[in-house]
Amino acid sequence: MPKTLSKVRIFADRDTACRSLAADLARQIASINEQGRNAVLGLATGNTPLPFYKELVRLHREEDLSFARVTTFNLDEYLGLTRDHPESYWSFMHDKLFDHIDIPAGNVHIPSGQPEDIESHCADYEQAIRDAGGIDFQLLGIGRTGHIGFNEPGSPRESRTRRIELDPVTRQDAAPAFDGLENVPTHAITMGCGTILEARRIGLLAFGQKKASIVREAIEGPITAEVSASFLQDHPDAAFYLDREAAGEL
Ligand code: PGA
Repeated sequence: MPKTLSKVRIFADRDTACRSLAADLARQIASINEQGRNAVLGLATGNTPLPFYKELVRLHREEDLSFARVTTFNLDEYLGLTRDHPESYWSFMHDKLFDHIDIPAGNVHIPSGQPEDIESHCADYEQAIRDAGGIDFQLLGIGRTGHIGFNEPGSPRESRTRRIELDPVTRQDAAPAFDGLENVPTHAITMGCGTILEARRIGLLAFGQKKASIVREAIEGPITAEVSASFLQDHPDAAFYLDREAAGEL
C-alpha cells in the first residue's frame, strides 16, 4: 500500500498520459493568467517529455494556448556544453518547444553550461525563481538512479541549485546520444531537491518497463536521499503520470 500523499495516474500509453497532463497544464496557465500574472513553469528534458511538448505545441497551434504570459525555469544543464551543442538542454528546449510557441525569449531560463562562476550562477538562478514568484507547476522525469533533475543518490532534501557529479548509470544512459560514454559530461548544474519541492504543483512522467522498478521505489519505498523522487511522497500536490509498463511493479 503506497503510504504516499502523491497521486498515481496510470494511462494506456504515453501519448494519453501526456495529453492529459498538457490539458491540465493549459487550464492551470489560463487560470493563473486570469489572476493577472505570469504562470511560472519548471521544465524537464529527456526522451520522456517529448510527447508532452508535442502536445503543448499542438495546443498552441490548434487551440489558441498562448505562452505570452508564461515564465519557465529548466531543471538542469550539462556543464561544459555551449548553448548550441546539439545535446545541450538549451538546444533541446528550443528545438522541441520554445521555437514553436509564442513565449517571449526573456521569459526562458535554463542554467548555463559554461558559467563564469558556478556558485554565483546557481545563487542567481534561485533568486530569479524567487523573483518570478516561485514555480506554479514543475514537470519532472525520473532517471534510473531515481533522480529528479540531476539530483543523484545522496542529494539532500534541502539541496538547492548547484553543481553535481553525474552518476555512472546516468552517464551510461546518455552515452548513445553523445556517441560514446567518453563524450558524456561528468558534471551538471541542477536545481536542488529543495528547489523542486517548493513548486506548488508537480507532475512526474515515467514510461516504459525500464522505469518500473525505480518508479516502485519512488512511490512505495522509503523516503530517502538515495532516491530523490521519493521526496515527492509527502509533497501536497504531486502526481505520477505513468503508462502501464512503468506502473508494472506497483
Ligand atoms: P529520460 O530521462 O526521459 O531520457 O528517460 C529521464 C531523466 O533522467 O530524468
